[in-house]
Amino acid sequence: MNSRVLLASLIIFSGAMYCMENSSDLTIDDFKPLITSHEIQSAIKRTAEEISRDYKGKSLTLVMIIKGAIHLTSDLMRNLTIPATLEYIQASSYGQNGTTPGKLSLFGIERLNLAGKDVLVVDDILDTGETLYETTCELRKQCPASLKTLVLLKKFPSDPKKHDPLNMKKYSDYPIFSIGNEFVIGYGLDYKEKFRELPDIWVKKN
Ligand code: IMP
Ligand code: MG
Repeated sequence: MNSRVLLASLIIFSGAMYCMENSSDLTIDDFKPLITSHEIQSAIKRTAEEISRDYKGKSLTLVMIIKGAIHLTSDLMRNLTIPATLEYIQASSYGQNGTTPGKLSLFGIERLNLAGKDVLVVDDILDTGETLYETTCELRKQCPASLKTLVLLKKFPSDPKKHDPLNMKKYSDYPIFSIGNEFVIGYGLDYKEKFRELPDIWVKKN
């Protein structure tokens, strides 16, 4: 086989592989509704009331972990009745990996100045806890007056109904919902950067 034929075959083969990979990408038909926008909004309102009571007389610095916490932080902030300022950092572990995590990267922590501030880190979902653990370790080095965390979803390996809210507090100061060990999208959560715009949370069908 001469080199031109070999090159052409390689191009055709990699093109076919690329198409196969894309055609196997998940679509919305691979997901079913899990938590409605109404349930999300009511729970956030309740949590914002609790936070406003806990920090009464203080001002809060929210540190949003983008991109997943975008809608959550915005809805939470609008429901607070105490003054709050907004900062953000970026964490990414899934990227184009789809439904399996890769290596965690954190960006934008060094430009923050949290010394003496009451800080609340806001993240979309806590799975292994690595993102929140690494983030809070780094933020603590800036000597905030206090540092707490809020997560919209906590993933549990078994039946989430077995985990009561008090147990959830082991993982985050303000956990909102617990779910099973499934892949979810919507309300900021993505699959390969898609579906963040959905107002409800959807779970991957088995
Ligand atoms: P952890 O570091 O294992 O706790 O994973 C947390 C991060 O992984 C989250 O902030 C999300 O960005 C991402 N992640 C975990 N589970 C899901 C999921 O089911 N859907 C979308 N993103 C997820
Ligand atoms: Mg995230």
